[in-house]
Amino acid sequence: MTATLKDALGEVAAAVDRQFDLLLAVPQDPRADLYHAMRHAAIGGGKRLRPLLTFATADLFGVDRTVTARVATAIEAIHVYSLIHDDLPAMDDDDMRRGKPTVHKVYGESTAILAGDCLHALAFEWLAEPEAHPDPFVRVELIGCLAASSGPSGMAGGQMMDLEAEKTSFDLATVTRLQAMKTGALIACAVEAGAILGRVPPEGRRPLRGYARDIGLAFQIADDILDVEGDEALAGKALRKDEAAGKETFLTLLGLDRAREQTAMLVDQAIDHLRGYGPEADLLREIARYITERDR
Ligand code: IPE
Ligand code: IPE
Ligand code: MG
Ligand code: MG
Ligand code: MG
Repeated sequence: MTATLKDALGEVAAAVDRQFDLLLAVPQDPRADLYHAMRHAAIGGGKRLRPLLTFATADLFGVDRTVTARVATAIEAIHVYSLIHDDLPAMDDDDMRRGKPTVHKVYGESTAILAGDCLHALAFEWLAEPEAHPDPFVRVELIGCLAASSGPSGMAGGQMMDLEAEKTSFDLATVTRLQAMKTGALIACAVEAGAILGRVPPEGRRPLRGYARDIGLAFQIADDILDVEGDEALAGKALRKDEAAGKETFLTLLGLDRAREQTAMLVDQAIDHLRGYGPEADLLREIARYITERDR
């Protein structure tokens, strides 16, 4: 990882932690544990890749960083909620996440379900407030983008297909669609949100959308490779789960070498989509490269 990327990730992680800390103040009433559970999952962990993408894209267009921080945090809230639910006994049944015990291990299953529900709702509440952007049209577009990327045509739909992938053998096209929904959609929204904040008209977002689609897919293939090859201590979560679950992934379909080739090809393609941008897009280029080099 380059020093620039390391600094950018550090800055974004601090900004997101600060936002979550302010937005998730614990009330002194019977809901206290609900907030502690959300804070446990949301604060101080994860790579913060999605918020970084929103910042890196919004920075291309000189967007006020206070506004970007709020929007990036809303998108990360959806990601955190998806992880809380993904780890539940009814889903992947995991005990560790981001190097800590999972929410249901600490607070119990019922609280974990509710903490996920609340982060899901709060993400949209935070985007609906004027702090997200002074222009209500921009806010509505952000809300629509985040809703579409997390619902049945996005993350949740992809999670459903992922469950089916344990029972049925999907072909490459279906696995690609599954990954694009499960992981790609929210990553694409993180980039799109930066363009929305920058008031780029939809027809001008083509290159950024191409970039986001390619890195989203590369990111999930890299997650599947890490599941086979990664170090649990570095990843902060249990690995070697996909094969045990009999899950069809890029690895089962392509094998390790071709899966690795595929991610490298996607990263080159993602960077090529940015050819119309100058050095101001270097951070986006570095993020693309980091996706295949990451060890967690
Ligand atoms: C993990 O996402 C789940 C997937 C969508 C593959 P990340 O690898 O971005 O997890 P954190 O946010 O760094 O913990
Ligand atoms: C989960 O995918 C993706 C989500 C939408 C939460 P995985 O189940 O592969 O993610 P990890 O490996 O547990 O982080
Ligand atoms: Mg899963
Ligand atoms: Mg999982
Ligand atoms: Mg995984």
